[in-house]
Amino acid sequence: MKVTVTRSEKEFDIAAGLKIVSQIMKKRDSVIGLSTGNTTGGMHGVVAEIYKNYSFDTSQVTLFGVDEIAKVPEGFKKTCSAELLEEIVGPIGMPLSNFIMPRPQCDDYDAECKNFIDELNARGGIDLQMLGIGIDGHLGMNLPGTDFDSSTRLTPLSGELEDRIRRKNNYPAPAPLAGITLGIKDIMNIRHIILVAKGESKAQIIEKAVNGKVTPDVPASILQLHPNCEVLLDSKAAEYLYPEN
Ligand code: GLP
Repeated sequence: MKVTVTRSEKEFDIAAGLKIVSQIMKKRDSVIGLSTGNTTGGMHGVVAEIYKNYSFDTSQVTLFGVDEIAKVPEGFKKTCSAELLEEIVGPIGMPLSNFIMPRPQCDDYDAECKNFIDELNARGGIDLQMLGIGIDGHLGMNLPGTDFDSSTRLTPLSGELEDRIRRKNNYPAPAPLAGITLGIKDIMNIRHIILVAKGESKAQIIEKAVNGKVTPDVPASILQLHPNCEVLLDSKAAEYLYPEN
């Protein structure tokens, strides 16, 4: 895997944002997957800023998020869709009908997951995925132990992930949340993946994902077998790959 290390967090955001913009320039009707969280907010801001200044054509692009929080109660605000709408989908003026996300509340999650991946495939399949990584190596909501053959589905959250979502939403209610995630098998079908990470908390897992054994214990390690996956890091996340940094 080709690894690019930027010198600062700001440079990381710019380099990652430019990847999204240039994919849209290259192919107007690209299908592009995004991730939510601390790693990706900055790059979405860069895309929004470029659009504000140069207003490129976004009328045909399809955007979606690699995962969504599910089984949420009424009034739950911080869904992944809401985050992406605010950070990038709204600011770049694309048609909302081209923003594809599973619904966080529904009666039939199996049907919802199937519709989600079917819709992306009907649009020609996924051209690019900006893919975040959890500190335990999870991809989307594919937690350690997930079968590499897994499809897009409803999945339980880890304690760490659920705590994080609850803190972010100030959501103390006892009912467990769940996640909808693109499965590992569907992730491996994406034409171009950019694994993105910044900050020292990701340094150890990045080293394992890039250089370690390919194992379901580290879901991101499967990306070593992807024919077109690159890694984009800031210098802190690359600390264990390049100890001299
Ligand atoms: C969550 C999300 C993932 C994201 C990961 C990393 O698990 N479901 O899609 O990639 O967190 O988030 P952060 O960038 O905030 O570390």
